[in-house]
Amino acid sequence: MERLVIDGGQRLEGSIRVHGAKNAALPILAAVTMLDGESVLHDVPNLDDVQVMLDILRSLGARVLQEGRTVSIQASSIDTTDVPEHLMRQMRSSIFLLGPLLTRFGSVRVSKPGGCTIGTRPIDLHLKGLSLLGAHIEESHGFIACTATRLRGANIFLDLPSVGATENLMMAACLADGETMIGNAAREPEIRDLADFLNCCGARITGAGEDTIYIEGVERLRARDFQIAPDRVVAGTLLLAGAITRGQVQLTNVRPADLTAVITKLRETGVQVNVSRDILEVKSTGVLQAVDRLQTAPFPGFPTDLQAPFMALLTLANGTSVVSETIFEDRFKHVSELQRMGASIKVDLRTAFVQGVRELSGAAVEATDLRAGAALVLAGLAAQGPTVIDRIYHIDRGYEAIESQLRDLGARIARTRPHTVADATYGT
Ligand code: UD1
Repeated sequence: MERLVIDGGQRLEGSIRVHGAKNAALPILAAVTMLDGESVLHDVPNLDDVQVMLDILRSLGARVLQEGRTVSIQASSIDTTDVPEHLMRQMRSSIFLLGPLLTRFGSVRVSKPGGCTIGTRPIDLHLKGLSLLGAHIEESHGFIACTATRLRGANIFLDLPSVGATENLMMAACLADGETMIGNAAREPEIRDLADFLNCCGARITGAGEDTIYIEGVERLRARDFQIAPDRVVAGTLLLAGAITRGQVQLTNVRPADLTAVITKLRETGVQVNVSRDILEVKSTGVLQAVDRLQTAPFPGFPTDLQAPFMALLTLANGTSVVSETIFEDRFKHVSELQRMGASIKVDLRTAFVQGVRELSGAAVEATDLRAGAALVLAGLAAQGPTVIDRIYHIDRGYEAIESQLRDLGARIARTRPHTVADATYGT
């Protein structure tokens, strides 16, 4: 079990390029199973979740070649649509394969994804939508089996704008017979990225990024080269790293418009954020101020994935900040760990009241989930004394070699195994 050891208190400074987005790459990797020919994807981040998806594709019979952040996939050799249970269990996002495999091959069998530490995360909207598209769905003994000779277009209205359901149904509808309308669709940038990819492969999707999406089914889709968009959650986390260490950090390869809600809140704390076409710069000098209302919401609202990292910053802001989580029912697991580091936070149901403190102190803490882990890294960067973060496999699901990125900006952070903590070298 690896852990991160951080010697806090270093001001971060420098420039860093943001890697491709996990949440764009995962559905696009699933979509590749619908394509004829070889797809070459660029800037695919080297993350544990991506590796699981590539392992699943290999287990289905696809030929996968990975060289750094370039991944080539030949899906025509796929000879089974049974997703292995042990891989399915490693990552919820394997559910993205439901739509593409069903629409391309006429059947798919997956094990049911369980709940996870941030909430129950059902998939009822995915299944309801597929059934409207004509899928026959059977659920038994923890498995879901879907079959259909050919899906047919339908009008689907989502009860809530689920990102995953929108993506799954959009993919399924691409090879369906006729037109599909998805109402109350999610508007996250990754939906547009997936639609851009599919459209360049021959799909006919309009309205992605808005709340009604139209898909006209086509007979076949052809593989194309594609560049994965930058990760807005990683970008947000790195901005916060600059802010919490009272540093000056420049990010390249970003899409500032995807981060408007985050930039707005950062500015409310008194941090300076400069925006240009694909560059963001954060500069933090004066006293950090509390924000009176940070509420997560579907895009373009404040992203739930940056709620925990932003809370780390607010623990050091002057005054009381009010943070509400509206997307996931149990996404405050980082609170007790931040409290171990001296943060003053009270939680009432899905609202946290964060009373800023003068300083955080390093402590031994645990990453309970991916973004909670990122929050602890941020807190550790600002804390006095050493912080040791365990269960960092959560962090590796979404941040590529986070320690070397932060070290490049001047942080003293090392990845160690428990018995080597005393000898941790932080690098330069
Ligand atoms: C995606 C992102 C995740 C982000 C989340 C919300 C990926 C790989 N993951 O997750 O990082 O935190 O969007 O922006 O892109 N729901 C249902 N029934 C369903 C589906 C969802 O009730 O069938 C509920 C969920 O429990 C949750 C809410 O809808 O409360 C939003 O979930 P959803 O947008 O589907 O998130 P994911 O696609 O799982």
